[in-house]
Parts: sequence; C-alpha cells; structure tokens
Amino acid sequence: MVQEWFDEHNNQFEVLTWPPNSPDLNPIQHLWDVLNKQLRSMEAPPRNLQDLKDLLLTSWCQIPQHTFWDLVEYMPRHKVQRYLLNHPELSVGRRVLDLGCGCGASAIAAKLSGAPHVVANDIDPIAAVATKMNCELNGLEPLPCVTQNLIGSEPEKWDLILLGDMFYDETLTDSLHKWLYKCVNLHRTQILIGDPGRAQFESHDIKTLLYEQARFELPDSVREENYGLTSSTVWWYRPDY
Ligand SMILES: C[S@@+](CC[C@H](N)C(=O)[O-])C[C@H]1O[C@@H](n2cnc3c(N)ncnc32)[C@H](O)[C@@H]1O
Repeated sequence: MVQEWFDEHNNQFEVLTWPPNSPDLNPIQHLWDVLNKQLRSMEAPPRNLQDLKDLLLTSWCQIPQHTFWDLVEYMPRHKVQRYLLNHPELSVGRRVLDLGCGCGASAIAAKLSGAPHVVANDIDPIAAVATKMNCELNGLEPLPCVTQNLIGSEPEKWDLILLGDMFYDETLTDSLHKWLYKCVNLHRTQILIGDPGRAQFESHDIKTLLYEQARFELPDSVREENYGLTSSTVWWYRPDY
C-alpha cells in the first residue's frame, strides 16, 4: 500500500533507500522486539537456519492481533494530540509549530482543532512523507513540512510550539531547553510538551519549569513494549512563571 502511494506521488518526493530510525515512524521495530523476546524465551534454541525460519514464522503467527493494533494506535504515545483535540481553544486562530513532528499527529490535531497556520518540522525526511500521507488520510491539504534543524536558529513568532517525545537524549534536551527559553522570552510562545517519563527528561533541570496539564495511562501491551513506561504526561513549559 505504501509503495503504491509512493508510486502515485513519485514526482513529489525523493524516496530514500533506508527506513526511518525512529520507532514512532516504524512500528515494525517494536514487533521485531516482540519476536526477539519470544525466540529468546524458548527452551530449545534453533539448531540451524531452517529451524530459525520455522520458529520465526510460528512466533509471528502467535502474536495477538491486538498487539499490532495497540502499536499502531499508540505510536504517538505522548498524547499531545489528544490534549489538543480536547482543548480546541489552544489552536483556534493560532500559528503552530510541531517540532520533531514524526508522523505529524500533533500538527494534524492542531489543524483539525482550528489553527489557521500549522508547520510540521522534522530533520528526518521520512517524517515529512509520513505527515503528508497522514494529512491525506485525515482529509487535509498537506501541511508545510520543514526538514531543517530549527533548534538554535533565530525563533519565529509562533503562538504555540508542540513537542512530542523529543527529550530522549541529553544533548538534545539541553539544546531544546535553551531554544525554547528564547522562544518564550522573545515572543511569549506557549510551549506544550508530551513525554512518557523518559529518564533524560525526568532528571533534567527543565522539569522544574513544567506544569502538568494532563496525564494519560498507557495500555498494557504498550507498557510491555516500553520498558516500564506506564503513562504519558502533557506539560506546559513556563520559565516565566
Ligand atoms: C521520538 S520521535 C517523536 C515523534 C513525534 N513528535 C511523536 O511524538 O510521535 C522524535 C522525532 O524527533 C525528530 N528529531 C530529532 N532531532 C530533531 C531536530 N533537531 N529537529 C527536528 N526534529 C528532530 C526525529 O527525527 C523523530 O522523528
């Protein structure tokens, strides 16, 4: 299906030969993990390649259907988009940037909630393709997608910046913190952050400037796949408070 879509739109994109590294754009990575765990838990390990192939096929067929669906439904696990849909007043009439947009779920939620100007940004070009495809699936004109790194650049005047699961790396968290501070200071931009409680985020100074807006519990199968993360929180970053 994806290949057909690429073929139909081949004049609009350069299709890369490598898959995206982000698990949020590629749920199959989580399924490899499920398969890997099943194989490792077997009492008798495979003795040869044919054995391995047979075991993989049997294990694949034993993965319950709901595991596939839970992974697809909960790909954007931070729930910023659910929060936006619940609070359209955050989007109506506003200029919105979804930074590190991944599949574009937050940008799309802002647009569907009434934001007249929404830009999706991600340094992974596959994210731009995924966002365009998701706009199409949601009956929207493709949103503008920017693939340059905006962190550290002179901030534009955004009313709202959305960040979903962007604090997974300490260096990235440091540079984001500096840049977001500048956005608030220069333009009074409102910043909403969704995070499933990653260690790099929980232990960072930025946490002292965040105010909880909503918390969403993750379903069991998603918890299992996310190494003990149990819920996802939407925060308002307020260094001016
Ligand atoms: C964990 S994913 C989150 C995706 C999406 N926000 C979501 O929650 O579904 C992190 C995303 O940030 C993107 N990213 C990493 N560094 C970035 C940067 N400097 N500027 C923009 N996007 C970046 C990655 O390519 C990836 O798509």
